[in-house]
Amino acid sequence: MTPRILVVDDEKLIRWSLGECFRKEGFQVELAGDGAAAAAFLEKHDVDLALLDLRLPDTDGIQLLKKAHDEIPGLPVIIITAFSSIDSAVEAMRCGAVDYITKPFNMDELMISVRRVLDTESIRQRLSSHINEEKVRFGLGNIVGESPKMIDIRRLVRRIARSETTSILLLGESGTGKDMIARAIHYESARADKPFMNITSTALPETLLESQIFGHEKGAFTDARELKKGLFEFADGGSVYLDEIGDMQPALQAKLLRVLEDRAFKRVGGTDDIRVDVRVIAATNRNIHEAMKTGQFREDLFYRLSAVPIVVPPLRERKEDLPALANHFLQLYNHEFHRDISPLSTEVVEKLSTYNWPGNVRELRNVIERAALLAKEDTLMESDVMLGTALLGHIQPAVACFRLPEEGCNMEEVEKMLLQQALERTQGNRTRAAELLGMTRDQIRYKMEKFDLNV
Ligand SMILES: Nc1ncnc2c1ncn2[C@@H]1O[C@H](COP(=O)(O)OP(=O)(O)O)[C@@H](O)[C@H]1O
Ligand SMILES: [Mg+2]
Repeated sequence: MTPRILVVDDEKLIRWSLGECFRKEGFQVELAGDGAAAAAFLEKHDVDLALLDLRLPDTDGIQLLKKAHDEIPGLPVIIITAFSSIDSAVEAMRCGAVDYITKPFNMDELMISVRRVLDTESIRQRLSSHINEEKVRFGLGNIVGESPKMIDIRRLVRRIARSETTSILLLGESGTGKDMIARAIHYESARADKPFMNITSTALPETLLESQIFGHEKGAFTDARELKKGLFEFADGGSVYLDEIGDMQPALQAKLLRVLEDRAFKRVGGTDDIRVDVRVIAATNRNIHEAMKTGQFREDLFYRLSAVPIVVPPLRERKEDLPALANHFLQLYNHEFHRDISPLSTEVVEKLSTYNWPGNVRELRNVIERAALLAKEDTLMESDVMLGTALLGHIQPAVACFRLPEEGCNMEEVEKMLLQQALERTQGNRTRAAELLGMTRDQIRYKMEKFDLNV
């Protein structure tokens, strides 16, 4: 959309020449000769930038500036002023003007200022609309479920989000929704426009994990050719989500405790303290009390983290959430697979309720995804939703036809061959090949590189 500029100046010639000039540059321009006309316009219309002469016949420019900001919060205003009244320009800047130019002015100079303001403005707007999208995508509205436990969790998330620094410990089995809750806490809080950084403790070897979290100085170890910032530095002002914290090594736990207590840490190989303002959200699917008994998890860290523990119950303990969750995922996959499958029938819901869901909501999601992908009709039948061992039973016959030859075989050769076949069958579509082989896309990519398969 073409930006609209409002020019407020009592000198007709200046108004006119500014108007001409901006129109030639492709902007929309509105002209006002006094404060009243400007105020009336701002009340009714949106403007992207205002150019404001400080000396107007009927009002003080500063008053008009304030009024403009009341009407359009954040509206960028450039002040036009005579050189003799530079003091009032300073005051205007204090009141929120973004720039000022002095009369007589050079048109090129003015244009540069205008372009710069509009550029930063559009970046700011794009950024804020992106953040708003993320808030919707990851906020509380995504947490489905009306069981008393889920209602409680949502209430807790809302409360925690308001307290800015409290650390949180999420406890619950795998697939219960811990990641999702961690994000909701971040996106519902005042930190939402700052980064949400996450890391899984089990994903990396210990030394690498430490440098990922805390960064390292140049030369800290053999491969450390450059200084590297860690997660905590990147997340400054935002939140850090540490998943699988129950598996973190005690030495690293101690360092983490220090961040929680002093809001400071040292990079690996560093001597200076780095200060950060970060909220820590940790999660584990382990029995943390057991881990403390065996010394695997530091008690002091547990107490520091668990000011507000959130226990996310397994799906089998809140089966009343099942229909809403299942239909929520159905909607999601209808959209993704361009299907129009109707909401689940009571029979199907009943079948889902008989199962005990060891993989929790994640497993439910996968079951619905599979059903939505494979169902022939637009109504799901009981036979479309395969659960637990039924699902295994479905895969087993295929697996059973692979027999180890008498003389043995080379596992890598077999793997390579199957991968080749899967890629051929899917015309090189890695996502579908991954599905056929029960692997993730990353695993496929890794194996393709390993076996030097280029499709
Ligand atoms: N209450 C819920 N509402 C909607 N989706 C959920 C809910 N709980 C879990 N999910 C979904 O289930 C999957 C697993 O959740 P996740 O947060 O990764 O679990 P965890 O971190 O506990 O293993 C994700 O796709 C998540 O979006
Ligand atoms: Mg998780």
